[in-house]
Amino acid sequence: EPEAYQREFDAKIDRGDFIEPKDWMPEGYRKTLIRQISQHAHSEVVGMLPEGNWITRAPTLKRKAILLAKVQDEGGHGLYLYAAAETLGVSRTELIEALLSGKAKYSSIFNYPTLTWADVGVIGWLVDGAAIMNQIPLCKCSYGPYARAMVRICKEESFHQRQGYESLLVMMREGTPEQKAMVQDAVNRWWWPALMMFGPPDSESVHSPQSMRWGIKRVSNDELRQKFVDATVPQAEVLGVTLPDPHLKWNPERGHYDFGPINWKAFWDVINGHGPCNRDRMAARRRAWEEGAWVREAAEAYAEKANRRATT
Ligand code: ACO
Repeated sequence: EPEAYQREFDAKIDRGDFIEPKDWMPEGYRKTLIRQISQHAHSEVVGMLPEGNWITRAPTLKRKAILLAKVQDEGGHGLYLYAAAETLGVSRTELIEALLSGKAKYSSIFNYPTLTWADVGVIGWLVDGAAIMNQIPLCKCSYGPYARAMVRICKEESFHQRQGYESLLVMMREGTPEQKAMVQDAVNRWWWPALMMFGPPDSESVHSPQSMRWGIKRVSNDELRQKFVDATVPQAEVLGVTLPDPHLKWNPERGHYDFGPINWKAFWDVINGHGPCNRDRMAARRRAWEEGAWVREAAEAYAEKANRRATT
């Protein structure tokens, strides 16, 4: 009976066991996972656009090879995540249609432009750095296929973070004054949006209480944001850039860095479609979906033929 299923599910969550695709799960748990995993997948794929913009303009062959690999990794992450979402009983087509119709979100961070080459390094350092901070706890989330996908994704993200930081180090140590200024300018533009990636403050995070109870989220939005600030300040010092926050200061009582107020109105504006690049990003995804239609049709026709051959 349903109560017994629910009890067994609760016991698994309490024990810290993984929930697997064929296990019984509450509808709300399934829906929450489909929402989060699909939004995560969309973010990876939309996230290819801002950096993809620099592949043809990378300054050296080495940087170009690294960037190509990184952007391809992001596409791969999207694919593992769509596959993880599909284990919950939705199709990839439905998920992508939800993105294209504006029903499903993707990360706010990918709605900002990449104006200079330094943006590519700063995205690696700050954006992928924030992504890792958020994603490490997801390796231990309660849904097996999502947790396992995250293990591999986190390893690759860590390479992305390092390549970004290293490219900035080269510019800051060996670069011209113009190149150093370019790095500082990119840091100024990406710092606050990176802090927003962790989501609204806990007091306004509508999904957090339930997602924490279900073991989907292990660490809260504000806690992760604080951990990110604490980890990043010393890295900025090594790099020789300043972070654009006059309130940023070590607080010995808390054992953390204090930081200034976040402009949440700007965050919600971006999420609601009014960021600098929302239109471009969605237009690019729509174009890719339409231009790829013939590939999907051809694959389906081939599968049908192969099926017919196998059954006759
Ligand atoms: N960008 C866009 N939307 C966001 C963001 C953000 N940075 N932060 C929160 N939101 C949305 C939530 O999706 C939710 O909207 P919805 O109800 O339409 O889904 C709403 O704001 C309220 O937020 P929360 O209640 O805090 O939502 P949630 O519990 O899902 O927490 C979080 C948000 C932390 C982003 C969580 O979903 C998560 O950890 N997702 C997986 C990681 C991820 O998606 N990373 C993508 C960026 S990293 C990368 O791709 C390189």
